Amino acid sequence: MSSFQAPKGTYDILPADAATVLAVREAIAAPLRRSGYGYIETPVFEDVNLFSRGVGESTDIVSKEMFTLTKRGSEELALRPEGTASVLRAALQANLHRTGNLPVKLWYSGSQYRYERPQKGRYRQFWQVGAEAIGAEDPALDAELIILADDAYRSLGLRNFRILLNSLGDKQCRPVYRAALQDFLSGLDLDADTVRRAELNPLRVLDRQARVGAGATGRRADAGRLPVRGLQGLPRAGPRAAHGGRVSFEDDTKLVRGLDYYTRTTFEFVHDGLGAQSAVGGGGRYDGLSEMIGGPSLPSVGWALGVDRTVLALEAEGVVLTAPGATDVFAVPLGEEARRVLFGAVTGLRREGIRADFAYGGKGLKAAMKAADRSGARFALVAGERDLAEGLVQLKDLTNGDQTPVALDALVATLKEKLK
Ligand code: HAM
Repeated sequence: MSSFQAPKGTYDILPADAATVLAVREAIAAPLRRSGYGYIETPVFEDVNLFSRGVGESTDIVSKEMFTLTKRGSEELALRPEGTASVLRAALQANLHRTGNLPVKLWYSGSQYRYERPQKGRYRQFWQVGAEAIGAEDPALDAELIILADDAYRSLGLRNFRILLNSLGDKQCRPVYRAALQDFLSGLDLDADTVRRAELNPLRVLDRQARVGAGATGRRADAGRLPVRGLQGLPRAGPRAAHGGRVSFEDDTKLVRGLDYYTRTTFEFVHDGLGAQSAVGGGGRYDGLSEMIGGPSLPSVGWALGVDRTVLALEAEGVVLTAPGATDVFAVPLGEEARRVLFGAVTGLRREGIRADFAYGGKGLKAAMKAADRSGARFALVAGERDLAEGLVQLKDLTNGDQTPVALDALVATLKEKLK
């Protein structure tokens, strides 16, 4: 062990777990790729004001959890706590909304940073795959995104997740609701921090305080139910809701979300096997965000799914993604001449698309065969001087110990046949 450890709240993705992590990222990306979303990458750090204006001063993400970097001079940067503000900033900067079709549909995959109290499923560096559809009000887009996330989770074999849906209101009804909520909260005996929050964004109080939240949600009914528009095509989950290839959701009027940019439709994907950190993904409409960061009016909708928590959800459901072994063939040379010949043979196999590795480090036969076993390879390729003199190598099937001599120049064809 070295004298260093990964920083608190972070962890290393090691080869044994990497196949699952990569498969999760790929499973989330696949439905997006076939639905017209283009891949985008943005810097891991941005002007800190992008997040304080975009994500919101009243949120924990901005007020408590931001990793800020101070450069020489006064310009402040922050590690991105989420992807939406950066992606919209990049789209505006490149004028994608003027030069291409609307909506501009983008997807991304990357690490995000939040200085949170670490616990299972909650890290200071975590991974999201996200999708944003920028510049269209069409509620069919909200539906499209929810369906794509549902497809992604199902393609991984996940079953025990639910979709919670709410609306945070639009330009007309949100101020009425906000005023009613502020009025309700002002009648309660609240601590100074909560009073400040209620002034900045009263909805945040619902997020923070379950008890106050329950009362205030009751009040929401008086302020008028906020309509979830346009998602009538999605069936609601009933007690006996069968999936049948359709997406079902539950209304959750307490769903607030931890970011201030949301308007109208918001949703969260929760998994019931994860304990406290049950949200495996979330998103919604953010019709006002573009204007908040100095752009034109561009009503938009998107989501981000948490890769780390999706991996935990797979574990909780006992889903094992069949990861193919990393190696098909492992070469074991006996002697210097064999080392030279088999090194060439391994290079040739790799160029033909066969996954091959080699006993490096001048190991003896016993240690080299052990390395072959550990590699997970199906075949060992063994050769000594006598084999080479006859132009042969020995192909040993490691699953049953059978050994057959194969002509060196027939090796590629033989292995391609056997690995089919
Ligand atoms: P979010 O709900 O903050 O939304 O994060 C989305 C997902 O990222 C969460 O549901 C969770 O799975 C994962 N996540 C968040 N924080 C952590 C953490 N500390 N450790 C592990 N996983 C975490 C957003 O980030 C929005 N940008 C989503 C969006 C896109 N809305 C519109 N477009």
